[in-house]
Amino acid sequence: MQNIIEFKNINKSYENKAVLKNINFSLARGEFLVIIGQSGSGKTTLLRMINAINCPDSGEVLVNNENIFLKNQKELIDLRRKIGYVIQGDALFEHLNVRENIAYVPKLLKWDKKRIENQILHLLDMLHLSKDFLDKYPSELSGGQRQRVGIARAMCANANLILMDEPFGALDEITRTSLQNELKILHKEKNLSIVFITHDIKEALRLATKIMILNQGVIEYFGDYKDVFTKANSEFSKKLLESYKQNRLN
Ligand SMILES: Nc1ncnc2c1ncn2[C@@H]1O[C@H](COP(=O)(O)OP(=O)(O)OP(=O)(O)O)[C@@H](O)[C@H]1O
Ligand SMILES: [Mg+2]
Repeated sequence: MQNIIEFKNINKSYENKAVLKNINFSLARGEFLVIIGQSGSGKTTLLRMINAINCPDSGEVLVNNENIFLKNQKELIDLRRKIGYVIQGDALFEHLNVRENIAYVPKLLKWDKKRIENQILHLLDMLHLSKDFLDKYPSELSGGQRQRVGIARAMCANANLILMDEPFGALDEITRTSLQNELKILHKEKNLSIVFITHDIKEALRLATKIMILNQGVIEYFGDYKDVFTKANSEFSKKLLESYKQNRLN
């Protein structure tokens, strides 16, 4: 199986504080990796290295077997346009309407109007969003609708790698579950590779094919989601999983 992402000996510090410590993993194409860990554990920093927004102090990041930090500026821009990114806190462009938000990257890629419109309609359909929203502005949408638009925007240029930073945070349980189900279907149908951050272990177990547990910049577990209860044996992992088991019993 071909790897879509590989991290080799990645280290990163901010102001002398190590945020990522010797990170090594590889992810095969088509996997759904969910990263869990406490606030400040380095999840967003790690995710933003995959599209070269953050640069490591040492080590290599390979995407599609290419070292992305050897690319020039133009190649990096091309790479970012091929990777969908759902930003923590659903940062939609407030001055653009829904259609313009979703069409943002395909427009930069100079797709013709008809192709963009067809793609938008297809995504609205898949994400159960009404066409009536297309001319609305983000401030006129509910939280769940905004997050759907964020996902549509990340997927519009047919990216096959999607990075999602707590995309379903701050949603009620029903909306969250329905978006999780839609994302699972999209993952399968479009054969996507996804890296997804959450604090919610229940969400992780629903979505993941692979799970990473990150604690203070160190990978404490990386492996199949099915094995997490038997093989994630570090103190921190056990504590994290224990809180999940207890919640489930209550
Ligand atoms: N640009 C920056 N400059 C200085 N410190 C930073 C910067 N970005 C992140 N950090 C620090 O690095 C650490 C990891 O941050 P990161 O955003 O990766 O955490 P996280 O796991 O995504 O947390 P959360 O769950 O709260 O989003 C934190 O201590 C944070 O304060
Ligand atoms: Mg974060």
